[in-house]
Amino acid sequence: MGRVQDKVALVTGAASGIGLSAATLLAKEGAKVVLADYNIEGAKEVAAALKLEGLEATAVFVNALEEQSIKDAVEFTVDTYGALNILYNNVGGTNVRKDLDIVNMDLDEWDRTMDINLKSVLLGSRFAVPHMQKAGGGSIINTASMGGFASDAIRTGYGTSKAGVVHLTKYIATQYGKDNIRCNAIAPGLILTPAAINNLPAKMIEIFTKYNALPYNGEADDIGHAVVFLASDESKFMTGQTMQIEGGHYMANPTIADLNEFLTANN
Ligand SMILES: NC(=O)c1ccc[n+]([C@@H]2O[C@H](COP(=O)([O-])OP(=O)(O)OC[C@H]3O[C@@H](n4cnc5c(N)ncnc54)[C@H](O)[C@@H]3O)[C@@H](O)[C@H]2O)c1
Repeated sequence: MGRVQDKVALVTGAASGIGLSAATLLAKEGAKVVLADYNIEGAKEVAAALKLEGLEATAVFVNALEEQSIKDAVEFTVDTYGALNILYNNVGGTNVRKDLDIVNMDLDEWDRTMDINLKSVLLGSRFAVPHMQKAGGGSIINTASMGGFASDAIRTGYGTSKAGVVHLTKYIATQYGKDNIRCNAIAPGLILTPAAINNLPAKMIEIFTKYNALPYNGEADDIGHAVVFLASDESKFMTGQTMQIEGGHYMANPTIADLNEFLTANN
């Protein structure tokens, strides 16, 4: 008996990285999983691989920037598996060459970033809630980011929209809790998904590691396992919360890594 046995799950951004991990782990724990992505070929490949392992999975196209496309993915899920119990609103991102500081940022990118990170969560949840009410409850999980808690030199739109995800999570939890619908978010720190590895110079990854409490960086499964927990009844008394999964990067006195270097050099 899996931890989410026979539950129906829709995962957005499931062809790669965190979404791929979550979809795989949910399927391994007994869920029937719909992998939604605008990389439909990638999503189909993952679904086929899961099926070969005897798991239940299928793929659907979604463009998380388009309302109708999100609605269609939700309806596809219910048409295919008869219900919707778990929604993982995971798609998100930004264009780091355009999402700059307040003065220099591209305003079109600000709008796109709000849409892909924040509005997509609103829309996915809006279309999922009536089906979850019909099913007697459900679990909605959103991907926020530690960028929604700590500000930075650039990625102003990204961080602001992810802070919005943290708060929207509480709104969804508040408004539908009595329908037995829970809503929680996960705020990852740096997770070495293909996107992160391709976008960040090795030196930047090294700097990140230096400031982690732990001696290593996060992997997609570090988030995927938390998704399974939030999707399952193991977390049944938890709602409106954001789990920070970030290797202790944002926890301590921010000068700790430099102080350690200083103390070591002077001992
Ligand atoms: N990787 C990190 O370090 C990190 C840290 C904090 C938060 N996050 C968040 O985690 C989530 C997943 O990130 P990831 O690193 O796994 O990224 P990723 O690029 O590896 O995967 C993202 C997936 O989403 C799909 N996608 C992108 N735009 C889409 C759209 N408009 N419609 C449908 N599908 C779309 C891509 O095809 C891809 O399969 C994002 O919300 C991101 O902001 C990531």
